[in-house]
Amino acid sequence: MKLRIDGGQLLDLTDGSLTRTSVLLDDEKNVIVAIGDHLPKGDATVTLNGEVLLPGFIDVHVHLRDPGFTDKETIATGSAAAARGGFSQIACMPNTKPPIDAPELVRYVRDQSEKSKGTAVWPIACITRGQKGEELTDFAALKGAGAIAFSDDGKGVQNGGLMKRALQLAKQLDMPIAIHAEDETLSKGGTLNEGAALRHGQASIPASAEAAMIARDLLLAEETGAHLHVCHVSVEPAVALIRFAKARGVKVTAEVAPHHLLLTDEAITSGDAVWKVNPPLRSERDRRACLEGFLDGTLDMIATDHAPHTASEKAMGFEKAPFGMVGIETVFPLLFTHLVVPGLLSLTELVKRMSTVPAITFGLSGGVIRVGGPADITAVNLSTERIIESTEFLSKGRNTPFDGWHVSGWPSLTVCGGRVVYQENPVQKGVAREGE
Ligand code: DOR
Ligand code: ZN
Repeated sequence: MKLRIDGGQLLDLTDGSLTRTSVLLDDEKNVIVAIGDHLPKGDATVTLNGEVLLPGFIDVHVHLRDPGFTDKETIATGSAAAARGGFSQIACMPNTKPPIDAPELVRYVRDQSEKSKGTAVWPIACITRGQKGEELTDFAALKGAGAIAFSDDGKGVQNGGLMKRALQLAKQLDMPIAIHAEDETLSKGGTLNEGAALRHGQASIPASAEAAMIARDLLLAEETGAHLHVCHVSVEPAVALIRFAKARGVKVTAEVAPHHLLLTDEAITSGDAVWKVNPPLRSERDRRACLEGFLDGTLDMIATDHAPHTASEKAMGFEKAPFGMVGIETVFPLLFTHLVVPGLLSLTELVKRMSTVPAITFGLSGGVIRVGGPADITAVNLSTERIIESTEFLSKGRNTPFDGWHVSGWPSLTVCGGRVVYQENPVQKGVAREGE
């Protein structure tokens, strides 16, 4: 089927200019057929009202909880939520039940992704069997089944020798290892950043728990030549270490989560576990270092670490509630409003860090709108301000600290592989089939 999108303004990622134009997409070939005025009719047309056309966003760090925790999220609800957030592609973390540590589980994720017909979901498989940190998984078989990277996210790999072997194998297979950096001898079951932990009578996850493991793994990446991807960087020394390693030519990429760019542990004024996330919300100094690191490219991309949990689990208080915040439906409006509108970052740079850079880093198609390129497109309405209402989420998870925030930059249309996977108010705006 061919889909024509009319009435959008195409953002040129090289110079930031906007051009009102139509785009014709083919979902069988997953390709952009033509861009311009007076295009041939498609089988269906979406008519926009001046929204900005961007390459579909890509989030390489999402928890979909399927199999095993489907009361929190499923591949279907998670990919629908991602589509609402403007994402054409996401990669899901393997800390499910069972963990994604065998080829048939990787295939399960791919099958569910295809069945759900939402945003495309790419599986990240475990580094160690059962995420126990003891024995490596079969990397070649997992890659063969469709895994795009390896990670024990949710837990750090405590054994340095094992991590070195993982990096050596990943290097041979040309696959990235995405690390959750947490030295458990330093975090010792803590819940909050040091200052907040003291105020709330909790044990802490100190900066050193994160930075020490990043330092170890940067050295191992240097020794092995493997591609190390550092997940959810949250502290100043971690940013400094990654900057230093990049200057030394280490093959390292890193992501930062929206909550670590926009919030600090000062925001935690109650015992509400909506604030509980790992790594925890940090100090203002850390937040600024992450922002600076993101602006100067030390931290390459945005990833949400979308981590849905049920309301009853999150009601269990700081100590017992699980770590995590949802983020996939709100990240673009939040960062557009708080980074682009105040002039800290250009729109094109934000789009690149949410689309082009993750695509290149993880070897995915996408990240660009051009004739012959993949048919992944997001349209965003940059002017209309709306309130974040967690009750409207398509995710099963409502655990956001941003409920009630006023933001603009809401996605109104998401196309994945030439198919509409999300459209705001489809009745009003209409996906009109030609002839109807
Ligand atoms: O906050 C978090 N939630 N951090 C993690 O590392 C894991 C994640 C989860 O799976 O809920
Ligand atoms: Zn995570």
